[in-house]
Amino acid sequence: MPTPAAVLCGLGTSLPERAVTNRRLIRENGLDSDDRWILERTGIAARRLADARTSTGDLARAAGRAALDSAAELAGGPVPPDIVLLATTTPDRRCPATAPEVAHRLGLGDIPALDLSAACAGYIYALSCAQALVAAGLYTRPLVIGAETYSTTLIDPRDRDTAILFGDGAGAALFRSGSADEPGALLAQELGSDGARAELIQVPAGGSRLPFGAPGAAPEKYYFAMKGRTVYSQAVRRMTASSRGVLRRSGWSAEDVDAFISHQANQRIIDAVADRLRIPAARCHGNLRELGNTAAASIPLALADAAERRLAAPGARTLITGFGGGLAWGSHTLLFPEARPHACSPHADDDKAPS
Ligand code: UT7
Repeated sequence: MPTPAAVLCGLGTSLPERAVTNRRLIRENGLDSDDRWILERTGIAARRLADARTSTGDLARAAGRAALDSAAELAGGPVPPDIVLLATTTPDRRCPATAPEVAHRLGLGDIPALDLSAACAGYIYALSCAQALVAAGLYTRPLVIGAETYSTTLIDPRDRDTAILFGDGAGAALFRSGSADEPGALLAQELGSDGARAELIQVPAGGSRLPFGAPGAAPEKYYFAMKGRTVYSQAVRRMTASSRGVLRRSGWSAEDVDAFISHQANQRIIDAVADRLRIPAARCHGNLRELGNTAAASIPLALADAAERRLAAPGARTLITGFGGGLAWGSHTLLFPEARPHACSPHADDDKAPS
């Protein structure tokens, strides 16, 4: 019997209502920056920012709800998940994990649910885990969610180096066990990490290395810090190499790629990776301009956006690649899904049972 493939059968998104343009962000936070600089250097024009009452779990639950509705529409009936994987760097609480509460609020009973932390590469890592669980026959319907609220947890709004880059949101995909020739099938994967460069992207204080209130834990150390230029070159290098690796494993050349979806961090990074891979701009899809960098949510949000706008046909050969703090990176090939994405606002029908 062939190994079962994880087949994406439902897609969901949830975004905070508040859309904040560069100009407004600069004005509200007194940033020494300008709209043109941000747009030209990053490709970001606006981002969605969560309000104080909206947590990562709220966004994750709503995106999960939307993915279940999308799957039910495609299948003509409910497709109940049997495990929840939540990729996030900004959980609701430092302990416990956020995923069990999300599963509970989705009315999924006592199925296993866990958080997975690999910063902006989190969703790619979670996909790989889901794929492995399905291939092993251990679980058949993983719900994989990426959700973040960087703006209310990790980012210093007065720091122009980081405040301009990040946005909040969540994306989710439901998978079922199927075969590798179906639209939505996850094919090859490639993952990597380089902990020798951990300090390039970090929140120095608040963990066990520099606990809360410890000597040296100055207030600014509780915020996200990044060595932008070095991260930029690592991102280009690692995502290009990882993409090449996964293409090799898939038996595809770059010319075979119909749709390319990269982690949405900086348009110049995306263009540089696509250029090195020789993937034409018309096949590169994303929503960086409107949403900024949503970390672990960026890949599912970009995939849902491409599916919503029907930028690729079901079954089209798709390459996704991600990179982030750790350093951690990874890539997947998949066949473009058939599911029509649903969207759900973070506080809609909070306690509705799954359809
Ligand atoms: O998702 C996780 C992975 N993260 C990433 O992939 C992010 C990677 N890094 C980047 O995207 C870019 O490095 C940044 C967008 C963070 C910065 O862009 P850059 O082109 O690397 O700028 P830079 O840091 O080299 O700075 C260039 C100039 C500097 O001025 P001088 O020294 O040339 O006079 C900066 O002081 O731009 C200045 N600058 C700014 N100006 C206006 C830096 N940040 C800003 C700003 N507004 N926000």
